[in-house]
Amino acid sequence: MMTRIALVTGANRGIGFEVCRQLAQQGLQVILTSRDVAKGQAAADVLRGEGLDISAHQLDVTDVDSVMALQAEIEAIFGRLDVLVNNAGVYLDEGVSIFDVSLEAWELTQAVNFYGPLYLCRAFIPMMHLKGYGRIVNVSSGYGSMAEMGGYTAAYRISKLALNALTRIVAAEITGHNIKINSMCPGWVNTTMGGPAAPKSPVAGADTITWLATLPDDGPTGGFFRDRQPIPW
Ligand SMILES: NC(=O)c1ccc[n+]([C@@H]2O[C@H](COP(=O)([O-])OP(=O)(O)OC[C@H]3O[C@@H](n4cnc5c(N)ncnc54)[C@H](OP(=O)(O)O)[C@@H]3O)[C@@H](O)[C@H]2O)c1
Repeated sequence: MMTRIALVTGANRGIGFEVCRQLAQQGLQVILTSRDVAKGQAAADVLRGEGLDISAHQLDVTDVDSVMALQAEIEAIFGRLDVLVNNAGVYLDEGVSIFDVSLEAWELTQAVNFYGPLYLCRAFIPMMHLKGYGRIVNVSSGYGSMAEMGGYTAAYRISKLALNALTRIVAAEITGHNIKINSMCPGWVNTTMGGPAAPKSPVAGADTITWLATLPDDGPTGGFFRDRQPIPW
């Protein structure tokens, strides 16, 4: 069987790092990307030490030129990309009132959490379309759900709401080519972002991502999931 090629953003630590491990353990060839080259290499070394098939590549998701350069490189080396996990994220306005969030925080949050996935989808989904296979996972949050919408943390909430809309729009535009795109919420996970009080391990937080990244051909698309179950938008 053909080895699937997967790309994970923001994968030098946290949930993204664990997704790389889980996908490689399932036999996928994983491209671990990070905005800092040295951190990505160090993370890939750890996973290679476990006998996993991992390569590291620099990628700042806010830099559209670097996204396009990586797309060209993957096209030249592999001729395709099968799995894209839009995991990189920032959480800059935790608990801050919408009236107090700085313009810089608004812009950086949108740049990483929304424009990054948009650039990656536009770079890689056409390749998937040509090959008739693709699995895209947008790592969102319950904070981006209208059903759970509340006050505070507005920049982060709105960035994840926009990411969820991206999922729905791409799913509606790309049908019938065995391309599946889904949003998911990992829950509250013990990472740098989630903090030490979070009840979920990165292993548990990554599980639904890995599941969506390896869906069978009759699996769902255009959905929003937590713990492998659909949740309301
Ligand atoms: N942890 C939770 O409780 C929780 C809950 C809901 C949703 N999520 C979502 O899950 C995803 C992963 O979160 P996490 O908990 O693993 O967070 P994390 O430990 O803070 O890791 C975030 C990752 O994103 C990377 N990143 C930030 N800006 C980037 C950029 N411009 N380009 C490329 N990479 C960038 C970071 O790189 P550096 O190391 O260079 O900073 C890091 O590798 C995020 O999308 C987050 O919103 C997390």
